[in-house]
Amino acid sequence: MSLLDQLPTPVVLAPLAGGPSTPELAAEVASAGGLGFLAAGYLTAAQLAERIARVRSLTEGRIGVNVFVPGPGPAEAGSYQPYLERLARWAGERELPLGDPRYSDDDWPAKIELLLRERVPVVSFTFGCPERRVVEALRDAGCEVWVTVTSPDEAAEAERGGADALVVQGAEAGGHRASFVDRPELPVYALLPLLALVRSRSALPLVASGGIATGEALAAVLCAGASAGQLGTAFMLCPEAGTSEVHRSALQSDAETALTRAFTGRLARGIRNAFLDEHDASAPIAYPELHYVTAPLRQQAREQGNPELVNLWAGEAHALARALPAAEVVRQLVADARASLSAAAARHARAR
Ligand SMILES: Cc1cc2nc3c(=O)[nH]c(=O)nc-3n(C[C@H](O)[C@H](O)[C@H](O)COP(=O)(O)O)c2cc1C
Repeated sequence: MSLLDQLPTPVVLAPLAGGPSTPELAAEVASAGGLGFLAAGYLTAAQLAERIARVRSLTEGRIGVNVFVPGPGPAEAGSYQPYLERLARWAGERELPLGDPRYSDDDWPAKIELLLRERVPVVSFTFGCPERRVVEALRDAGCEVWVTVTSPDEAAEAERGGADALVVQGAEAGGHRASFVDRPELPVYALLPLLALVRSRSALPLVASGGIATGEALAAVLCAGASAGQLGTAFMLCPEAGTSEVHRSALQSDAETALTRAFTGRLARGIRNAFLDEHDASAPIAYPELHYVTAPLRQQAREQGNPELVNLWAGEAHALARALPAAEVVRQLVADARASLSAAAARHARAR
């Protein structure tokens, strides 16, 4: 039986690397009956260990940890050199700081060792499906292994790789696309068709992610075959989240979002701003190299409260996020999902 069958509420907190993910947020969602996630992305294994200890001190609820699967190795420098030169010119004219491009495996071996020791109930992966050896070792350690997928082909690969459940991420989702590789010609499936396509090929439990901001939308993905919804942006205004002030105010606007590689060299959805509009068209695929190049610029803009230069990751329904405690967000989502399922059943009965 999957942990999803035992969750008191079908709500999974999305892992939110880069600031919003905190032990406090994960603990509140877990204590409210959902699955609280910690994002391991961009942390060292030692920092992740501290966060796991902290969340365990705050809740006895269920938690998961999400890890980025590293890419095959450094990007070819020539592929991003013209973009670097363009950024350097542009930043130089404005006296803005840039970092150096570098490859990183995001402390992968140490994080896997840590998770084998910590035995958290769920370990989810993003940007790929780990080797079978890793999946089996985690499973033997008592963890459920989830893999995030963005296409039917990735779902089939994750199932062959031994995944216990699939996080199905639609194009509506905020933050990076979880695709196993980033390629210009990759299809970008919206959540409902992707759920249907994956469900038609796989009997694994599915967790739906992307643009879910209301109980009605949660009800929709449950009807479409998901065991739970994984929501990110809907929790980013919670007081327990580590979302920066500049990001919080952007989320509360009705500004449109777009998919871009301008900030990190990997496709991600964020609120449109000056940096995105200026550099989107020329941005190459080079992750995590370009993430490290723009990190100092983004950090400075965050500190100075300048939304135009920050990667404002957000799902398409961000204007519906509410600044409520996380437990209250879970409670309202579940109550509204239940009410909308009953209302839909009543409408269906009338229509017959
Ligand atoms: C700020 C931010 C950070 C994210 N970080 C991660 C991450 O570390 N790992 C991951 O698998 N997904 C990450 N995502 C994507 C979420 O898991 C999820 O797919 C997305 O939030 C769902 O769309 P929604 O934001 O509309 O709910 C992130 C999303 C956002 C908005």
